[in-house]
Amino acid sequence: MFVLVNLKAYPCDPIEIAEAVRDVSDASGVDIAVAPQTAHLSQVAETGVETWGQHVSPVEHGSHTGSTLAEAVADAGATGTMLNHSENRLKLADIDAGLAAAERVGLDTTVCANNPEQVGAVAALGPDAVAVEPPELIGTGTPVSKADPDIVTDAVAAAEAVDENISVFCGAGISTGEDLVSARELGAEGVLLASGVAKADDPIAALEDLVEPL
Ligand code: G3P
Repeated sequence: MFVLVNLKAYPCDPIEIAEAVRDVSDASGVDIAVAPQTAHLSQVAETGVETWGQHVSPVEHGSHTGSTLAEAVADAGATGTMLNHSENRLKLADIDAGLAAAERVGLDTTVCANNPEQVGAVAALGPDAVAVEPPELIGTGTPVSKADPDIVTDAVAAAEAVDENISVFCGAGISTGEDLVSARELGAEGVLLASGVAKADDPIAALEDLVEPL
């Protein structure tokens, strides 16, 4: 099971969370990564935690002020990146070019999608993984695996219909180990989560609770 902790633009301490994720991942053997703000990638990667970008721009080196260059993300120590998060939606052509940018520098890729239909569409672009996240459940604490389990099983089917080797993750409202187990039972190989850890008073306790039943 893969767990990606997305720090979004929350007012958390990225290093404190990175160190907590590193320690809980090492102790549990569960593959947990952190996706901080781009400006924090180097500091987070230096903790030794698996580090992901929240986004890379669909560009190469050149006149692209304000972009997030895949080369810079990889140089900072990231090993993967999300694309097309619900809070940073892209045109299909830009997802495609973002994937090309990530692949150019060897970043693992997870493309997010709102629903199973979009999962099928983005799976066709050939990312390493797709993640279904119903936007209405993001940040609610109500897990997609409980509120809308069909969306996970339908996303798995939609992705497998395109490429049976692609990994399928789910996210939105996931914060407990029970939620992770439900996601796994529905066919997800990983989860994306944010507020359950980034907004927790005690991120270590939140992470330990997450991996406890795995
Ligand atoms: O990228 C994961 C995220 O959108 C889920 O957010 O706060 O519902 O875990 P949250």
